[in-house]
Amino acid sequence: MKIAGFGVEEWLNTWEKSATYDISQSTISSMTMSELLSLDGVDGQTFYAALNKQKMNYGWIEGSPEFKSEAAKLYQHVPAENILQTNGATGANHLALYSLIEPGDNVIAEYPSYQQLYDIPKSLGATVDYWHIHESDDWNPDIEELKQLIKPNTKMICLNNANNPTGTILDRALLEQIVELAKTVDAYVLVDEVYLPLDKPEDFVSIADLYDKGIATNSLSKTYSVPGIRLGWTASNHEVADIFRKYRDYTMICAGVFNDMLGTYVLKNRDKVLARNRKIVLNNLQILKDWVASEPKVSMIFPRAVSTSFVKLDIDPDQTEQFFIDLLKEKGVLLVPGNRFDMPGHARLGYCTDEATLREGLKRLSEFLHESKYTNK
Ligand SMILES: Cc1ncc(COP(=O)(O)O)c(C=O)c1O
Repeated sequence: MKIAGFGVEEWLNTWEKSATYDISQSTISSMTMSELLSLDGVDGQTFYAALNKQKMNYGWIEGSPEFKSEAAKLYQHVPAENILQTNGATGANHLALYSLIEPGDNVIAEYPSYQQLYDIPKSLGATVDYWHIHESDDWNPDIEELKQLIKPNTKMICLNNANNPTGTILDRALLEQIVELAKTVDAYVLVDEVYLPLDKPEDFVSIADLYDKGIATNSLSKTYSVPGIRLGWTASNHEVADIFRKYRDYTMICAGVFNDMLGTYVLKNRDKVLARNRKIVLNNLQILKDWVASEPKVSMIFPRAVSTSFVKLDIDPDQTEQFFIDLLKEKGVLLVPGNRFDMPGHARLGYCTDEATLREGLKRLSEFLHESKYTNK
């Protein structure tokens, strides 16, 4: 089985530890254990007392009943039994694709988005057609293009809502149109839902609530600020969950006792986490907007209040990667160059870091845009 290198991950693996001002990440400023455990008002005393008594066996294979019922509360129509815990959303996407995609299938994937969603199906022998997002349409894809792409052997449509890297949301009306098309060929619709719009979370509609063959993947890594616990899940109908059960026995067994306990704790304190994170996202988004307004060498279609954004830079597109390597070496600032998403001349800007890092990172990026030999003069 052959698979392409993962553009964003390879970039981050190489450079992220050398950054002083890391404005590349798509997580809302990660929490320390102490920050996390202060959420319940008793400084984690209850959590640690339970942890001390817990044997580090395999624990609950599918996730504890408490975890599953907390995760099920995120959906209108998904019972706890249809939630399966995974190793992050990465594990959830892999599980869904590995379980359902076969050689000869056709998969349509929103493009660009999270690379797993097109390169895993290709590696499994499917033909993959790209459903492009368009800058000219606020990074939305065009439903007419999907109508042209859909085929009798389309097994799955893969989407990322909100989109990484642009932060654009697919709204209910568009999702409903996608579902209608998927129904014509009985295709699954897999949606990676790790980014939630925090201005109005209630506007967000999960594919698992819209379509019987909708599969939602999610995790605690982005919206919930704890990527370090590597905890995600799938939400689907019962029949699909049963297929997943079979495959996950081969690929993961379980996600770990400690992770499950902490993940359950985070979901139980969801409102407090979201309140913290809404503040960060809205505050930093305003800083980002002010910077874009004051910097003539950049432009941006602003994200919905999610933690990833995609900036267009006045640089030589052919030198995008070199520009960002030089920026890191000379100014200590890290972004993800757009060529890693096949979009040279752009970059992913993770603005939901701490405010001081964001402000200094943007200031230095501006300086470099005016100094670099790769900037259009
Ligand atoms: C759309 C998307 N899905 C999944 C992931 C990985 O999530 P996790 O840490 O839960 O594996 C990322 C990380 O950047 C992402 O952007």
